[in-house]
Amino acid sequence: MSSAQAPDLIARRRRVLAPGYSLFYEQPLHAVRGAGVWLYDESGRAYLDAYNNVAHVGHCHPRVVEAISRQAATLNTNTRYLHELILRCAERISAHLPPGLDVCTFVCTGSEANDLAFQMARSFRGHSGALVSDYSYHGNTSLVSRLSTADYPVRGGTDFVRDVPAPDAYRGWLRGLDAASTRARVAARVDEVIVSLADEGHRPAALLLDSMFVSEGIFTAVPAYLNTLCERVRAAGGLFIADEVQGGFGRSGEHFWSFAWGDVVPDIVTLGKPMGNGHPVALVATTREIAGRFAEGPGYFNTFGGNPVACAAALAVLDVIEEEELQQRARDVGRYLRRGLDELATRHACIGDIRGAGMCIGVEIVADGKSPGPAMAQAQRIKNRMRLLGVLIGTTSRHDNVLKIRPPMVFNRANVDQLLETLDETLLGTGSRKKKAAR
Ligand SMILES: Cc1ncc(COP(=O)(O)O)c(C=O)c1O
Repeated sequence: MSSAQAPDLIARRRRVLAPGYSLFYEQPLHAVRGAGVWLYDESGRAYLDAYNNVAHVGHCHPRVVEAISRQAATLNTNTRYLHELILRCAERISAHLPPGLDVCTFVCTGSEANDLAFQMARSFRGHSGALVSDYSYHGNTSLVSRLSTADYPVRGGTDFVRDVPAPDAYRGWLRGLDAASTRARVAARVDEVIVSLADEGHRPAALLLDSMFVSEGIFTAVPAYLNTLCERVRAAGGLFIADEVQGGFGRSGEHFWSFAWGDVVPDIVTLGKPMGNGHPVALVATTREIAGRFAEGPGYFNTFGGNPVACAAALAVLDVIEEEELQQRARDVGRYLRRGLDELATRHACIGDIRGAGMCIGVEIVADGKSPGPAMAQAQRIKNRMRLLGVLIGTTSRHDNVLKIRPPMVFNRANVDQLLETLDETLLGTGSRKKKAAR
């Protein structure tokens, strides 16, 4: 079951890689090849990948591989030379965004994109504060790790950042509330937070949100929540930065961008992970006014950001999303998956809640159905057992008890069936069968 080479690879990692690196699964996977929704280990065994969102259009999609190879064999320079592909890429991304968000800056990672976006917001407003969600993750630069409350207390909170809870209607603060009460509660909380920032001498420069809340436990933002947050922050002089590193490029199935769960057009949008299907390319899109103000400073250059190979990858990803209608597919397959999970929940008491949309679904594992305490150890057992059975998922949330199902967008109904059968078998093995089939 476990890879013959794994012990040696693990020992060598310990010798030559920084200790901060971690590995997925108790028995780490030695993947040597990928194709579509499949990863293969050194023995040729196939694993159904229900985790990796970076391989957005499928591992090693031939269109993307061909585009990268062709461009790498032709020219790879930087943005200080004229090149057709960066322009085409910016035009295509802008065409997917609301009008006005048509000025692009290319970077390499989501962290860089959020770092730059927040710098832009600060320079535009002349304010210094930030609002983020509780247990957010936005990246790892020294600035952005301060906006990543999931990293606290290790990386340390700070006086210029305040958080508001994610839109948790299962065990959280929005449970049982209708739209009007949600608006009132969110408004009161944001106002409180803005006062507390003011006490430290900060006015909000921006609200930064991943509207799929993947780190927080996967919640789709309800309009009353998202709209109210944005309205209050804007009234206090801050911008709305939509972090689409997780939720972008059609992943939710319902929308191309996850900020569209609400009715507010962001001031800045950041993109990353899926944009190059694994090739490092990320982007900040904003208005001419905001980008113009930032350009009055020292300017911005990123050696690798937006190079021709990166742009070729991003263009091929957009082509495949459109031609293979992957957003629509994510919506349909995602609904099929949710129906299957709902059925499993009638038989397994440990499934407390099912959330998310499209190809981004969270399954909250709880101790028992009546008093749903988060069951972290059980969620880890499920994840590890499924890996042994050949299906890869992850876990997320503060308690790490939410199964994270976030596959490449080419996942199909047969893949869903395999995932559900394996989850069912795993849950039976962990003794979670309900006494009565009622929920
Ligand atoms: C919502 C969100 N934003 C930003 C990032 C950072 O992206 P990167 O790892 O490419 O720097 C991540 C990474 O997981 C993320 O989930």
